[in-house]
Amino acid sequence: MNGPGRLASACMQVIALADREQLARYSADVLTTSLPRHRGLGLAGGTTPEATYRLLSQAPISWERLTLWMTDERWVPSDHSDRNSRMARDTLGETAAGRLEAPLFGELMEPDRAAQDYERVLRRSLPDGPGLVLLGMGDDGHTASLFPTTSALAAKNRTYVANEVPGRGWRLTATIDYLSQADRLVFLIAGETKAAVLARILDAGGDFPARTVMDSGPPVTVILDEAAASQLSATPVNRP
Ligand code: 6PG
Repeated sequence: MNGPGRLASACMQVIALADREQLARYSADVLTTSLPRHRGLGLAGGTTPEATYRLLSQAPISWERLTLWMTDERWVPSDHSDRNSRMARDTLGETAAGRLEAPLFGELMEPDRAAQDYERVLRRSLPDGPGLVLLGMGDDGHTASLFPTTSALAAKNRTYVANEVPGRGWRLTATIDYLSQADRLVFLIAGETKAAVLARILDAGGDFPARTVMDSGPPVTVILDEAAASQLSATPVNRP
């Protein structure tokens, strides 16, 4: 773990935009420019990336060259509004959605069996690794479904596991090991509620799952809105 005030890795950049709309526009531009260099695209769940995904659905991207995958999934029915893959399909549009390999599971399946099935899909569909990976961060410092103090943080020799999260039920998530194999990690983080934990992570080197992933090896780009950046003091922030 690097020390306080020192970015997670030598090739880490932190960028802040005025608001969520500017964050979406900037991140969509970064991705449109970067994606031709990658074969895989890991998708973050949650709500922050929705605006970015909607802009990507209109961007000049050769989706046929890419395999899209979910960095985590909630253990809910496939048509449930909380399903991350449903959000991704609805916002990225039909062409990109056709390139998405999402975890497939029914209610009678065991979570870890579903995770193992998805591991096989990832091995087959992404033989060169996870590619460019988008991640969000919760106000507790989780990323993907790697929540503080949960068993998935310790997973070894796995790319995807089931993770029982107190108060949230079961999740499926990429492991730290798998995320560490990314070509590049791009965090999209917005909102005042993330500001305190983000300062603890970036300014103070706080021990949270998002920081562990930031420290895991790939180049890291953290794209914020000013609300999320509002408590940063020791971290260099670029303002394009
Ligand atoms: C999930 C996500 C999770 C998300 C953060 C931030 O399934 O919830 O994958 O890691 O990125 O919780 O969520 P928001 O973007 O909604 O703040």
